[in-house]
Amino acid sequence: MSEQKKVMLSGIQPSGDLHIGSYLGAIKNWAGRAESYDCFYFMADMHTLTVRQVPADLRRRTLEQLAIYIACGLDPEKNTLFVQSHVPAHAQLAWVLDCYTMFGELSRMTQFKDKSAKNADNINAGLFTYPVLMAADILIYQPDYVPVGEDQKQHVEICRDIAHRFNSIYGEVFKMPEPFIPEKGARVMSLNNPSSKMSKSQPEGCVFMMEKPEDIMRKFKRAITDSDTVNPVRYDPEKKPGVSNLMEIYAACTGRSYEQIELEFEGKGYGALKPAVGEAVVEMLRPIQEETRRLLADKAYLESVYRAGAEKASYVANKTLRKVYKKVGFIAQ
Ligand code: TRP
Repeated sequence: MSEQKKVMLSGIQPSGDLHIGSYLGAIKNWAGRAESYDCFYFMADMHTLTVRQVPADLRRRTLEQLAIYIACGLDPEKNTLFVQSHVPAHAQLAWVLDCYTMFGELSRMTQFKDKSAKNADNINAGLFTYPVLMAADILIYQPDYVPVGEDQKQHVEICRDIAHRFNSIYGEVFKMPEPFIPEKGARVMSLNNPSSKMSKSQPEGCVFMMEKPEDIMRKFKRAITDSDTVNPVRYDPEKKPGVSNLMEIYAACTGRSYEQIELEFEGKGYGALKPAVGEAVVEMLRPIQEETRRLLADKAYLESVYRAGAEKASYVANKTLRKVYKKVGFIAQ
């Protein structure tokens, strides 16, 4: 039956530790998708090299990311979970696509402009061609949908442009992928700066998936709230961004509605809300952290997962690569 399911693919760079923003906004919703889609999820380790990495940390984070995915309910029997560098066809297709991507269009990418401003001493060619490798990651699996956040939409668009250019020369080689905007998923903001998204670059406002309970509680107790003290716990993202963010996290962890939360804290202040959200997050993470630790202690199992994933992924990827090689005029092996 799996032949009839639509294909979905997404990758996350193991360039930083995973946090609850990515979990509540994305990963949490991935687990249920395998019923309706043929899903591929990979650790984009090759993309991380565009910024200098400490090799041992990159290895640890790549494996930890896989363990966390499984602990969050992504069943390796139902989803194809793999490491990008284990499937060489991505890099092989990327070279071909490099030759169908224009210098001018890569120069206009906002992420390239941002990242080169931030890493002025290391504006390497990989940073520039990053979107081409990403286009190869996507097109090689012929997916219908690519779930990505707002910041990655421009990359999916250039991927479509490249596919279109290639197809108009050689015929329908690549399927046109659509960005997939999830129907639900919390938008979690930084705890100490509720106007920007939770991110590892602001660690005090960010709660990591594997963080210790006491550190989580400390971060929530110090979370920024708002100055309004009359009827303080109210959902109003415009006027009360700090409190609304805490309520959004609380709602996502407990399944309660904003009205229920407002009732629960009626007559109480931020002093009661902050530790309650902290505790809800600690409780939500407890089983995930335990399962992640158990999986990380079982290296042989994780190895068997990523090996089987790479094998399944390579089978699909090599089919597309062979077709592309033939179209451009390479002699078949
Ligand atoms: N660029 C993505 C990010 O930073 C990661 C990524 C790499 C990706 N290849 C991809 C996402 C292919 C979706 C599809 O989050």
